[in-house]
Amino acid sequence: MQKNIYPKNNLSGTITVPGDKSISHRAVMFGALASGITEITGFLTGDDCMSTISCFKKLGINIEVDNDKVTVYGKGLNGLKEPKDTLDVGNSGTTIRLISGILSAQPFSCEITGDESIQKRPMNRVIKPLSLMGAKIKGINKDGYAPLRIEGTKLKAMKYVLPVASAQVKSAILLASLFADGITTIDEPIASRNHTEIMLNYFGANIKKENKKIISVPVKQLYGKPVSVPADISSAAFFIVAGIITPNSHIIIKNVGVNETRTGIIDALINMGGDIKVINKNTSSGEPIADIEVKTSKLRGITLEGEIIPRMIDEIPVFAVAALYADGITTVKNAEELKVKESNRISAMAEELGKMGAKIEETDDGMIIQGNSKLHGAEVESHNDHRVAMSLSIAALNAEEKTTINNSECVAISFPTFYDYIEQL
Ligand code: S3P
Repeated sequence: MQKNIYPKNNLSGTITVPGDKSISHRAVMFGALASGITEITGFLTGDDCMSTISCFKKLGINIEVDNDKVTVYGKGLNGLKEPKDTLDVGNSGTTIRLISGILSAQPFSCEITGDESIQKRPMNRVIKPLSLMGAKIKGINKDGYAPLRIEGTKLKAMKYVLPVASAQVKSAILLASLFADGITTIDEPIASRNHTEIMLNYFGANIKKENKKIISVPVKQLYGKPVSVPADISSAAFFIVAGIITPNSHIIIKNVGVNETRTGIIDALINMGGDIKVINKNTSSGEPIADIEVKTSKLRGITLEGEIIPRMIDEIPVFAVAALYADGITTVKNAEELKVKESNRISAMAEELGKMGAKIEETDDGMIIQGNSKLHGAEVESHNDHRVAMSLSIAALNAEEKTTINNSECVAISFPTFYDYIEQL
């Protein structure tokens, strides 16, 4: 699908963006492993989370979907059934990596595959630590890549130092640790999102954090509970940036998840001079939420590096759009993980924004972005990456004349109604 976007000279309104993708995935997975019913409200019905639902249905879990209300009839830690055919995670890295931790410990074998992008993404980052626990996982066609075959087995507890700041890897190990024969300790030198730790404990697990160590003590049972999913800060980020860079704008985004492992985008933009307020703070199913108020602001360039990177890893493509409008140069460092997302997000953003007149230099671990840009409309490619498509759309709102985004349908992965929101604002 081609989407045409025309420049706008003000955006205003109050919106509620769809539910958090990371939390929606986890609510289904942990609900399936819990005893009793987990009622999820505010569930993100994007393609990725629907892939998680489809995998757990194949594993014998009854799941009902009624718009954004999902009911998971959990069968307990030992209740999954051998699937009749291959599990398909579609485009979802979170599904394949987290489910690998669970399937490694089951009393059956199965195969998991996904789309073209998934088959190119590195799986050794979960295969290696899970194998240290005794798991039997192999790339079927190529070592380290999906499709994967997992032969379930008894797992051993272990001590592990995470070599990359990845919540998917950490979560795969934590899920495997639920089935291990003792206490598993994970050393996390740089923190990544902690939704797994929060939700597993909410369901009755015993996971503690001591400094940079995460300690998981197996429990006999998890218990299903209602989960109210906050709005996704990663989806809100598109409108936070849109509100800042579009003249005469004032946007309020309601009930956004503001877990501090996810709020790097807010901190970075405030540091650049962005007028952003986090108001009406509350909590929901153990997660902090708040409303975010944004107004048009003049930004200055910064260097973005270090511990803030994992706190805004999915927002760096749209952050790059904001940096185009800042005074001076913005440098992004330590962000090599962007190269192994749904697309290589460093080169995709540099190439496509370049077609619109931006000057972005790719570096080994990030990019150097020239500020005070004047963008013009162009025909650009999404690289079949939802966050690239949406980031380019935000850039297009501030470009001169029409921009056409090719293959824009991929926004359905995390934000199926994205283009309706742009109209609404
Ligand atoms: C996610 C973790 C991050 C993030 C992804 C969702 C999660 O990936 O980019 O969109 O839900 O755990 P990594 O673990 O690869 O950093």
